Amino acid sequence: MSIERKVAQLVQPDIGSITPADVREYRFGTILNGGNSGPYGNDKAPAADWLKLADEFWEASTAPLENGEPVIPAIWATDAVHGHANVPGATVFPHNIGLGATHDPDLIRRIGAATATEIEVTGLDWTFAPTIAVARDSRWGRTYESYSEDPALVTPLGAAMIEGLQGKAGTAGFLGQGKVAATAKHYFGDGGTSQGVDQGDVNGDLDKLMAIHAAPYPAAIGAGVASVMASFNSINGTKMHGNKPLLTDELRGKLGFEGVVVGDWNGHGQVTGCTNSNCAQSLLAGLDVYMVPEDWKALHASLVAQVKDGTIPMARLDEAVLRVLRMKKALGILDGEVKPSARPNGGKWNLLGSPEHRAIAREAVAKSQVILKNAGVLPLKPGARIEVAGTAADNIPQQSGGWSITWQGGGDLTAANFPGATSIWGGIAEAARTAGGTAVLAPTGSAAAASAAKPDIAIVVFGEEPYAEFVGDRKDLAFRDEEGLALLKAYKARGIPTVAVFLSGRPLWVNRELNAADAFVASWLPGSEGAGVADVLFGKTQPTGRLSFAWPKTCEGGATWREGGTLFERGYGLGFAAPRIASVPLDETCAALTNDSGAAWFANGRLASQVQAVADNALLPDLRGNGNGIVAAGIDRRAQEDARRITFGPGAKISFTGPDSGAAFRIAYQVLNRPAGPVTVTAGGKAVDITQGLSVAEGKGWREMVLTQACLGSTGGRLTFASAAPFAFQISEITRDEKAANVECSF
Ligand code: GLC
Repeated sequence: MSIERKVAQLVQPDIGSITPADVREYRFGTILNGGNSGPYGNDKAPAADWLKLADEFWEASTAPLENGEPVIPAIWATDAVHGHANVPGATVFPHNIGLGATHDPDLIRRIGAATATEIEVTGLDWTFAPTIAVARDSRWGRTYESYSEDPALVTPLGAAMIEGLQGKAGTAGFLGQGKVAATAKHYFGDGGTSQGVDQGDVNGDLDKLMAIHAAPYPAAIGAGVASVMASFNSINGTKMHGNKPLLTDELRGKLGFEGVVVGDWNGHGQVTGCTNSNCAQSLLAGLDVYMVPEDWKALHASLVAQVKDGTIPMARLDEAVLRVLRMKKALGILDGEVKPSARPNGGKWNLLGSPEHRAIAREAVAKSQVILKNAGVLPLKPGARIEVAGTAADNIPQQSGGWSITWQGGGDLTAANFPGATSIWGGIAEAARTAGGTAVLAPTGSAAAASAAKPDIAIVVFGEEPYAEFVGDRKDLAFRDEEGLALLKAYKARGIPTVAVFLSGRPLWVNRELNAADAFVASWLPGSEGAGVADVLFGKTQPTGRLSFAWPKTCEGGATWREGGTLFERGYGLGFAAPRIASVPLDETCAALTNDSGAAWFANGRLASQVQAVADNALLPDLRGNGNGIVAAGIDRRAQEDARRITFGPGAKISFTGPDSGAAFRIAYQVLNRPAGPVTVTAGGKAVDITQGLSVAEGKGWREMVLTQACLGSTGGRLTFASAAPFAFQISEITRDEKAANVECSF
């Protein structure tokens, strides 16, 4: 193989930035679709498009090559982290935090096998799962991707998932039909960063850190995991993507891993001295495959040059290439295998979201429910008149969480994006009917007032909005959304007993809701088979779920609640037989709630929960999407999609609405090309022409715009940008600042 072809085996671009023609020209060894990438630029693409594109990549990578270069098929990796959930119609299993509550390795093995089959149906070969993080601070936005805070539980569950996905190492079926390559991630320390900050630093005695966060890896390696993904975080200040002692000496030397080490999304670019397109350091540290979503051409060129100039020894290049080839050999794709659609499971659409797979998911949902409180109302009585309230009750995107169809999940997704799925409400309605009772859906709880028959009991479904990665990072554990609390209190005031069903990616401080409800169920993020919740509520399945994370008593989060701040210990969970205990009201004070300033309107790639973005009357959930001449698209500033590009059609405008604190607006922004016509901003008073300010900013990188009443006349709860001509600018933060209320506006 030429150096160019060898290097191409180590470069992994995202499908959003390549075409089959690029694959034909460069012969990449592997490709991926990130959470927001779908075939042909459609992140909601139907299953058939996935298979069609997989065939096109296969054809391109197996086209004959000049001067005897060996033809090596490309393989495609995806984040099937709770089923093949990128794809409409696939079975969406509970996220790992719920699977941890099942404490059931055999169930998880079956989930892995079902997931592998559904991945094969769409023609893909490799999944970036399981996450075997040991999450130790629930403020981390990826807590729900962790099975447990206890490495002794993560270890068997991670190994079981790998075996389900890949088959049992050493057996005939290993990596054969119905099996895909798995990835143990993120090595290591992802769940141990200080303050739970995603991609942050893990600090402490290395041996002690490894005893917690690297503990699940020997079993994963023993299960024959095909790949390990390097973690974004640093260990005592050294980024894992450039950490030779840990990525080579430890992982290869001591743990004996012989498979492929794949980088995370431009993770190499975070290594000191590196950029996304130039980073020999990572290969020299032990990375084999660079996940380089956009800068693949430049990185390919720099790596080739670094091999040729001796920066990268040929032996190191060959070693990495050999690992990729061995993985492909084990997958059987070097032995003249046929294109994806011609493989045994390719295009077998009846297997995608099959009744058998959905039954496994429903079993997992039921086994993951954890009853935290039950003042004698569960199981529900047959024949009961039930009212189901909460906007989360009939909301499949919300019950699925992040990494579902899109990277962040939620947003503009609807049930239509999850064909075959059942909402929590749908399961309750069916169970009530079967038990000879009735159920009505009252999202805002108002139907009860209107309906003649007062319900015997109300089920209030509420919880976190979907998020993924750093977007879900929080500064404390206070659950702030008060929709569920208000509903629980309203029913209580009318003497109607209530059951709270709480959707969350982590334990949170919910003392107020626990006090207000007669029963409280931690439901986690159940996925497409919401009927599994009703199976427990109606007693069809015994509540065997037990917490795999301790539950906080105070709202601050971090280590504080761990030292005596635990409300429920890991392993806690009530059965039905538990004696009815008069629960003592929990303390409802939480300093974080009273200190809320609502300062950040947009930060870390996410709008604050009280803030909306609209293009005239078109809502732009999470500041993404388009409408009325506005397009809001995710872009990377400091991290994946932590900023937005706002594109205006002629005459278009975008408004941000949020808490009216009367404070100044500070906006981190960037202008690549000056406006072609007038741009104005309004905050409730007069429209101010900011064309000159934006023009001066052109090409000067990220800057800060300060908008105060000095130029706006007044600053309230609404900020509107309007452009007469086509224009685009980028935004990474919008914050309010009381102290700057009267300073001059600046750009
Ligand atoms: C993300 C995640 C990683 C995922 C990868 C590809 O940033 O950190 O878990 O596998 O990118 O989507």
